[in-house]
Amino acid sequence: MSSVPPSSAPVGELAGRRVLVTGAAGLIGAGIARCAARAGAHVVGHHRGPGAPPTVDGVASWVAGDLRAPEGPTRVLADAIAQVGSVDVLVNNAGIQPVAALEDVDADAFDAMFDVHVRAAHLLTRGLARHRREQGGGGVVVNIASIEGHEPAPGHGHYAAAKSALRMYTRAAAQEFGPQGLRVVAVSPGLIARDGIEEAWPDGVARYRAAAPLGTLGTAQDVGEAVVFLASERARWVTGAELVVDGGVRTRPTW
Ligand SMILES: NC(=O)c1ccc[n+]([C@@H]2O[C@H](COP(=O)([O-])OP(=O)(O)OC[C@H]3O[C@@H](n4cnc5c(N)ncnc54)[C@H](OP(=O)(O)O)[C@@H]3O)[C@@H](O)[C@H]2O)c1
Repeated sequence: MSSVPPSSAPVGELAGRRVLVTGAAGLIGAGIARCAARAGAHVVGHHRGPGAPPTVDGVASWVAGDLRAPEGPTRVLADAIAQVGSVDVLVNNAGIQPVAALEDVDADAFDAMFDVHVRAAHLLTRGLARHRREQGGGGVVVNIASIEGHEPAPGHGHYAAAKSALRMYTRAAAQEFGPQGLRVVAVSPGLIARDGIEEAWPDGVARYRAAAPLGTLGTAQDVGEAVVFLASERARWVTGAELVVDGGVRTRPTW
């Protein structure tokens, strides 16, 4: 893993905020947790469990649960609230990214995709909206979507469809929950570097670098910094919006 440069976010920007990050043990979730903690937040990390929680820099405490389980998302939020008293910011980050031709995507594979990316995001968002109403309003939901929610990649049709649904869900939830003071936004990352990706997928990495005007893959910190900004008071008039964090790859013509 490359070393992480210091955050440029104003120190303490999320001071006093309790931030629940789903999938916090994964690549991007851990990056979000680190950035939010450096901005002063108390980060509650979510992991799938069962078993002991992982160790992730910046995560102050953990909740566990399978987000595909019928009551999974509801219980995860309830456990986080029980643990820290209140949740101010929810980051719907957990996700799966299997590669399969649509021809091979059966009902189970399709449901697995939509359960974690869309159903869980909805149940957690709805739960947070109810919780924030009890707290007198406010709060922020940040949904981690993807540039593939704009343009599908081969072998990722069900993923692209789920991320596109999450983007639209973000706008719908912003519209319905805005009057109570809850903001709902999305971050859509491009290709994010992870250990071994150069060896595992050299042509994909090379194509991304060639296509992205900034010439590199992103890092988990790049996503984390965008989340911190959107969760902060600096973004207090931003809702229903999507921040694309992709090194500019979507500036390219697609034909
Ligand atoms: N990496 C990229 O280039 C990229 C680009 C654009 C968007 N994204 C999005 O960013 C988010 C994070 O991706 P990532 O690359 O960090 O993936 P990752 O390293 O695989 O982490 C995903 C996390 O989600 C958890 N998770 C998945 N299904 C779950 C379930 N049913 N219940 C509970 N936890 C579950 C995983 O837990 P387990 O380890 O137990 O499975 C893991 O901790 C995803 O929504 C992804 O679609 C990623």
